[in-house]
Amino acid sequence: MENKNINELRKNGIIRIPNFLDTYNLKKFKNFILKEKPCKGSSNSYISKSYKELMFKLLKLDLVKFQAHYSFFKFAKKMKLKNFSQIYFGKKSYLSMIDSYYNNQKKFDNKSIIPWHTDMAHGGQTDVNKIKEFPNPLDVSLKFFIYLTDVYKDNGCMSYIPCSHRITFQIRKGIHENKIDYSPYCNLSEIKSFLKIKKNYNYVSQNLDNSDDLDVFLDKIQNLDDLKSFDDYDYEMKAGDAIIFDEGIVHRGSRLIHSDRIVLRYIYRPYL
Ligand SMILES: [Fe+2]
Repeated sequence: MENKNINELRKNGIIRIPNFLDTYNLKKFKNFILKEKPCKGSSNSYISKSYKELMFKLLKLDLVKFQAHYSFFKFAKKMKLKNFSQIYFGKKSYLSMIDSYYNNQKKFDNKSIIPWHTDMAHGGQTDVNKIKEFPNPLDVSLKFFIYLTDVYKDNGCMSYIPCSHRITFQIRKGIHENKIDYSPYCNLSEIKSFLKIKKNYNYVSQNLDNSDDLDVFLDKIQNLDDLKSFDDYDYEMKAGDAIIFDEGIVHRGSRLIHSDRIVLRYIYRPYL
């Protein structure tokens, strides 16, 4: 994989890469997932991410899974995903998770797969006392999100607001450094409310390289609503294409109206 895209990734928080996965592996990976059709978060959605975990599969004599998982693992090595993530982070990094899951179109009933949100936002916890610590804002994942089925408008693409990772980075930084107070900023309405607080708005805009970026972002999200602007920011990608993104970006899983979806994710984190 070419490293020339890293500047674009830093700037926009995301890049889209066509034909990321070769047809041989696409078919192989897809067939494996279609056998069990695991839901997101279910135990069979997780793929071995290290030689140690692969050895466990072997010791259990689970040869089918061992071979399949080894192919997923080998693909990351072949594509030098770790190397790419290390250049992006500017630090050593590690593979924290590989998973692949199946979204059944019938389950989503015209609703977004996941509404607009940013990751690493404490799940929108309303009680600040329940948050053990506000982690280092640099502790953020880089996600390689590979589509194993076609996605398009209203059908399973991960919509995103370009450059929004820079806004959420400043929010996490301000909270971590005790410059602004925590209040929920996970979903769209929480982000809007958070930035309506003058102290928060001022902190974020003053710390951005370009202070106008915050107003541009607020304009973009002003009328964004899962119930009205269904396909704003949707796009089309083919099975085997991928997006790579900083998990701080404001994103959602768009509606899934026409067909089922399968995705494969490789998630890297920096050593801090
Ligand atoms: Fe997310």
